[in-house]
Amino acid sequence: MRDKDKTHKRRKERMPNLGFKLMSITFKIHDILFPPNFNKRMSTFNIKKGYTVIDYGCGPGRYLNYISDVVGENGRVYAVDIHELAIKAVKAKIKKHNLKNVIPVLANRYSCDLNDNISDLIYVLDTFHMIEEPTSFLKELHRLLKKDGTLIIDDGHQPRNKTKEKILQSKVWKIVDESKDHLKFIPVE
Ligand SMILES: C[S@@+](CC[C@H](N)C(=O)[O-])C[C@H]1O[C@@H](n2cnc3c(N)ncnc32)[C@H](O)[C@@H]1O
Repeated sequence: MRDKDKTHKRRKERMPNLGFKLMSITFKIHDILFPPNFNKRMSTFNIKKGYTVIDYGCGPGRYLNYISDVVGENGRVYAVDIHELAIKAVKAKIKKHNLKNVIPVLANRYSCDLNDNISDLIYVLDTFHMIEEPTSFLKELHRLLKKDGTLIIDDGHQPRNKTKEKILQSKVWKIVDESKDHLKFIPVE
């Protein structure tokens, strides 16, 4: 696809700048009023020191300080998003908190410039409901994850059966665990 077409498609898919800004402010206010317990939320992800993790659909990067600390200096966190404002926010966060192991990556619809099998774990939070072509999206995640890696997805704003249906349709993921908060998958093949 030509660069111009790619840019057009990304623009169509991503939310408007104002929408992104409002979402970021809403997250900020929410996190002040109800401070999130990342440790509780993410302890079941089993992220280990030295892991390479992808926060896919990272938005303004609410989880990055916590995950950066969990993987430690020998680990790496790729913060991937389709929106330029997300990448800008992540860059500001890296600078402010000196997050040396966090790398922002701008996605183009359903692909990003990361190598195959690069990641031990990918998490996709509050994002999957926004994806217009779930199978293309899920195949890209499959490309990025190591063969013995784990994918974690939450429902976002859709019912659990819808999440499962989309994921099973892709035929590249197998469910290994599920809780109220999220589902865990391993790659098929
Ligand atoms: C509601 S926000 C959630 C942000 C973050 N995961 C959180 O829970 O705080 C959803 C994010 O997914 C991103 N997104 C939507 N479609 C995407 C795609 N195809 N590839 C990468 N990111 C995408 C949006 O730009 C947005 O930043």
